[in-house]
Amino acid sequence: MTSSATTGAFVTLEGGDGVGKSTQQALLADWLRAEGREVVLTREPGGTPLGAEIRRLVLHGEHVDPRAEALLYAADRAHHVETVVRPALAAGAVVLADRYIDSSVAYQGAARSLGTDEVRDLSLWATRGLTPDVTLLLDLDPAVGAARREGHPDRLERAGDTFHDRVREQFLAIAAAEPDRVVVVDASLGIEDVHARTRAAVERALAAAGARTSEVTP
Ligand code: TYD
Repeated sequence: MTSSATTGAFVTLEGGDGVGKSTQQALLADWLRAEGREVVLTREPGGTPLGAEIRRLVLHGEHVDPRAEALLYAADRAHHVETVVRPALAAGAVVLADRYIDSSVAYQGAARSLGTDEVRDLSLWATRGLTPDVTLLLDLDPAVGAARREGHPDRLERAGDTFHDRVREQFLAIAAAEPDRVVVVDASLGIEDVHARTRAAVERALAAAGARTSEVTP
């Protein structure tokens, strides 16, 4: 089929805690559905029943050794990709995922000092190399993000300022290294301005995905 409405695309939202990823994810979903697209909203960790258990352990449990933490996120991701993301893409949906591999590279690879290449390779193994069509990096000073957050902070939110500065730096380094995939959006702008920018980036990615599909299926 060549109709762009049946072309799936994998969109990930990344950024530090409190940057507004879930708000933007919901706005993108409303817009895409109004356009007649099939949309799957999901998140990591916790996009599956197994993932919800992993999320509880890793964010609300006891101390977790950093390597164990990296493996738990990778396990969540492997199961999520195989049971949710790949089937949705095969059915032609647009998958909007709140966090993906870049979060592991930034939090475990850089901020926990486990090594960015090693952690990326672990996730690429876990997902059999599934890379997003576009990644929206919502960039914000971590101090502003912390002030925006509501409720009781989880285990990672309680990590110190240096930790969150390192997370931000690594996200920006990924964006600089992969400008074709990662679009940086200033998350200090108002919700509507951020939405306009994320939407434009998704529109471009969908057009590119549609063009690829028509090339292979004349
Ligand atoms: P969540 O409540 O989803 O954070 P937010 O609402 O800010 O997106 O919690 C996810 C936490 O898990 C967040 O602090 C980042 C962390 N995380 C990692 O450290 N590595 C990962 O691979 C993923 C997916 C998340």
